[in-house]
Amino acid sequence: MESPLLVLHLADWFAAAGEASWAQALEAGKVLYFPGLAFRLEPQEAPLLTPALLAEGVRNISLDAQGRLKGVAGDEATQARVAGMMERFARQARALLKGLVPAYDAHLRPAPTSLRPAQVSTRRQSVRADDRRMHVDAFPTRPNYGERILRVFTNINPHGQPREWRIGEPFEDVARRFLPRARPYSPRQAQLLRLTKSLRSEYDHMMLQLHDLMKADEDYQRDGPQLGFPFPPGSTWVCFSDQTVHAAMAGQYMLEQTLHLPVAHQYDPQASPLAILTRLAGRPLAGAPLPPSKA
Ligand code: SIN
Ligand code: FE
Repeated sequence: MESPLLVLHLADWFAAAGEASWAQALEAGKVLYFPGLAFRLEPQEAPLLTPALLAEGVRNISLDAQGRLKGVAGDEATQARVAGMMERFARQARALLKGLVPAYDAHLRPAPTSLRPAQVSTRRQSVRADDRRMHVDAFPTRPNYGERILRVFTNINPHGQPREWRIGEPFEDVARRFLPRARPYSPRQAQLLRLTKSLRSEYDHMMLQLHDLMKADEDYQRDGPQLGFPFPPGSTWVCFSDQTVHAAMAGQYMLEQTLHLPVAHQYDPQASPLAILTRLAGRPLAGAPLPPSKA
């Protein structure tokens, strides 16, 4: 397998000077990896790194774009400190992306920032929810009609523990492998399964099928093309997680920022999962716009 990582040496969140080849690598599904780009904690933030920070029954802490904090156990002072730390990370992640791919910036829509204080390796989950199985991100409750999921991750583990990922084959390979097994899209079923205000499009259906079929395939999980990669504390990585095949095997304490990007504002819209799935289907997908080509 060709290396799924592009290593970039940058130590300042505000100093990235994007090159076209980086955007192309990102849009080809590669992980941009910054081994020396650390998120620095303030001294008063160090005590926040404990699983006890998680409210009862939640997996992650989130801070949405309106500043609403969810999932923290603790008094007002603790909540404020957590929000401050996450907000600072959100700003740094945004600045990094702006530097990496300036053309995206005006079109990015921020989704919540997440803090993940739980140990990944010992979490018990259903097959479908188990992110230790290789997958592309697709969410049953969040149809997105082809809009991209761009994520910035940084490992803030204070005990030297890496975030251990597996990174898999290119999106087109995985789509060719699993689409023949996918259930056909049914608009009627999309109506019945309607969980949110928007209906699941054929694109969303195909992405969920890929997500579920990959995770359920034990042989693929064991023997499919993959590279194990430990992201050490003090490092940062960026990818389109709806395209990059990934699994998180172990690690604790990570910050993550999600942003959405319309396909039309990619450097090359034809590199998107929407365009790839449309090409493989040989026809426009139901309920999703055609992948635009850039003028
Ligand atoms: C995932 O997006 O599947 C999980 C990433 C992580 O928690 O490291
Ligand atoms: Fe994921």
